[in-house]
Amino acid sequence: MKYALVTGASRGIGRAIALRLAQDGMPVVINYRNNHEAAQAVKKEIEDAGGTAELLPFDAANPSAIDAAIDQWEENHPDDHVAVLVNNAGIRRDNVMFMMGDDEWHQVLDTTLNGFFYLTRRLLKHMMPRRRGGRIVNIASLSGVKGMPGQTNYSAAKAALIGATKALAQEVAGRQVTVNAVAPGFIETDMTRDLPQDELKRLVPMGRFGKPDEVAALVAFLASDQASYITGEVININGGLYT
Ligand code: NAI
Repeated sequence: MKYALVTGASRGIGRAIALRLAQDGMPVVINYRNNHEAAQAVKKEIEDAGGTAELLPFDAANPSAIDAAIDQWEENHPDDHVAVLVNNAGIRRDNVMFMMGDDEWHQVLDTTLNGFFYLTRRLLKHMMPRRRGGRIVNIASLSGVKGMPGQTNYSAAKAALIGATKALAQEVAGRQVTVNAVAPGFIETDMTRDLPQDELKRLVPMGRFGKPDEVAALVAFLASDQASYITGEVININGGLYT
């Protein structure tokens, strides 16, 4: 059977993507790092709606944890493979660059960029053989497209993710694997809870933050059979904030 794996799926955009892919009929692997209860609640929500889901905890920034988790999954699923990978896990550690600590720089790069590298490389083994095909969707950000002050670490990580998306798309296109990035603007999640929403909303032509479901709908389309000829793209989803 073909599975979808979503990293950081216990809340926010990742949660919405997991729910949506399950609703579209895919069995979903919910990755999370610490919050077992929240991940379990997402699993239950999927199952209550008639879908299939399972939990796969690992730190998406830790290469040996990734390998151990995927090895275990493969052992439990000898006849299955991951056909859709959504690299969603991400963190913010905002600071102006002249005050930024080494840890703030490295933690953000490790999660968004190195995490993408280790997990995607590992799961390409599921998609490349016998031209099985696959869908890789990377959650980038407007910050990686235009740069945001106070986010040199985050902008660098997301811009690099976009570069890797475009390069990898060309490498694997012949194997029917598509690789795309989605670049959200301001979306209502825990990540943006500390921001001055009223002030920022005025900058958005649509006058509001986006909803996780709106991002999930786009990801689900890119993950579907219908998106078979779209690859190497970065799709902005930002209410007209920057186009
Ligand atoms: P969130 O903070 O609610 O969710 C992020 C999830 O990733 C959390 O569940 C967190 O535990 C998980 N995560 C973080 N590091 C992890 C690791 N090492 N291993 C496993 N899981 C890990 O934030 P949100 O908004 O749902 O963000 C999802 C993605 O969307 C992130 O990549 C973020 O950078 C991106 N994004 C969000 C925007 C927004 O306005 N909320 C805008 C643009 C991009």
